[in-house]
Amino acid sequence: MPGAETFRASADAYDRHVGRYGVPLAAALIAFARVEPGMRALDVGCGPGALTAALAERLGKASVCAADPSEPFAEACRTRLPGVEVVSATAEALPFADHAFDAALSQLVVNFMREAEAGVREMARVTRPGGVVASCVWDYAGEMTLLRAFWDAAREVVPEGAAADEGAVMPWCAEGDLAVLWRAAGLRDVRSGPLVVRAGYADFEDLWAPFTSGVGPAGAFCKALDDDRRVALHDAYRRRLEVDDGPFELTARAWAVAGIVRQ
Ligand SMILES: C[S@@+](CC[C@H](N)C(=O)[O-])C[C@H]1O[C@@H](n2cnc3c(N)ncnc32)[C@H](O)[C@@H]1O
Repeated sequence: MPGAETFRASADAYDRHVGRYGVPLAAALIAFARVEPGMRALDVGCGPGALTAALAERLGKASVCAADPSEPFAEACRTRLPGVEVVSATAEALPFADHAFDAALSQLVVNFMREAEAGVREMARVTRPGGVVASCVWDYAGEMTLLRAFWDAAREVVPEGAAADEGAVMPWCAEGDLAVLWRAAGLRDVRSGPLVVRAGYADFEDLWAPFTSGVGPAGAFCKALDDDRRVALHDAYRRRLEVDDGPFELTARAWAVAGIVRQ
């Protein structure tokens, strides 16, 4: 998937960008997946470690492993969570034995896998029969307000915006998409539904700053613009969000899925 390379970036920039939603989203995904103390879990595409940290809090560090192909992100996760095994690897080639975990989760990763079905099958392979494989993806075309308003503004001021709009290019972002993928990958008792979280901003510039660092597909698009078009995008984006100079919150909806590994 084009865009995966945009996460070979600074973990701090990611934290200030989409990472702001990571902590509440991780709590919601863990509850949705029904991850319980006593289980051993894997976080696939861990990034700097929002979901890994929540899993470690619930299960203990020794019961959690994490994987990500971005070396800066894997290193940030290792540094933040000593005691958790963090490997540099893609979902499609996980360096773990069959049935090694009770649960394999991924947060906001499926759209960045090169071969999503192969990635989900790998998550199922490393999970024991009866264990759970669960994920969530942003509702890029709908209520992921931060990115939806960004791409609507980009479409308004830059002709190339339409071709890069994550709401149009992400293969797995509509309600029910992940359930189709989960069944295709052989999981049973597949459940899906929305997870809605919020993040706070001091002001619009607080929201805007990480985009200019180039992190994620929207940041990479923003960073590649010339100065005039970046200013036009900044102004159109702010107008669309209808925010003034003070603090504000945005909501973000993700679609979650969970399925059980067959015997
Ligand atoms: C939007 S970030 C999500 C990070 C983290 N899970 C979170 O919730 O903050 C997407 C992550 O997917 C990782 N990624 C990209 N391609 C991948 C692949 N083929 N397999 C696993 N992870 C991948 C990126 O390096 C990045 O860390």
